[in-house]
Amino acid sequence: MELTKKLSDAFNAQIQAEMWSSNLYLSMAVHFMDQGLDGCAHWMKKQAAEELEHAHKLIDYAVQRGGKVQVSAIDAVPTEWASPLAVFEHVYKHEKHVSELIDKLMDLAVAEGDKATQDFLWWFVREQVEEEDSAKKIVDKFNIFGVHGLVCIDKELGKR
Ligand SMILES: [Fe+2]
Ligand SMILES: [Fe+2]
Repeated sequence: MELTKKLSDAFNAQIQAEMWSSNLYLSMAVHFMDQGLDGCAHWMKKQAAEELEHAHKLIDYAVQRGGKVQVSAIDAVPTEWASPLAVFEHVYKHEKHVSELIDKLMDLAVAEGDKATQDFLWWFVREQVEEEDSAKKIVDKFNIFGVHGLVCIDKELGKR
C-alpha cells in the first residue's frame, strides 16, 4: 500500500518543519557563538544535527512507501533573542509545537487507516517526550541558578 496523497503531503510539511527546526537551532548556535557561549553553541549544533536526522528519517520512509517527496525552500528563522534564557524558552515552546504537529500527523495516519505509518510515527511521539523534557530541564536550570549560573550551565551543555 502506498502513502495516500493526504499523508504524502503531510509528510512533506513535516519534513519542512524538521528542516526549519534544524535551521532555527543552527541560528541559535551562531547567536551563542557570537556571545562566546561555546557550550550552549555546541548543544545547539547537536540539536540542529538531530533535527536534520529527523527530516532524513521522514524522507527515507516516505520514499520507501511511494510518497512524492519534495525538497523545497525553508522559511527564514529568527536571529535575535533577548537573553540565553529566552533562547531556551523558545526551544521549549518550539518543541511543544512540534509535538502537536506529530500528534496531528498521527491522527491523519489513523484517519487514513495506515497502520505502518502509525507504527513509524510512534518513534517520533516518544522522541518528542525527550525533546520537551531536555529543553524544560535547561529552562529550569536557568530559573534556579539565574544569570550567575550561566558559566556553569554553559560548561555543562558543552558536554552533550
Ligand atoms: Fe525533530
Ligand atoms: Fe526537536
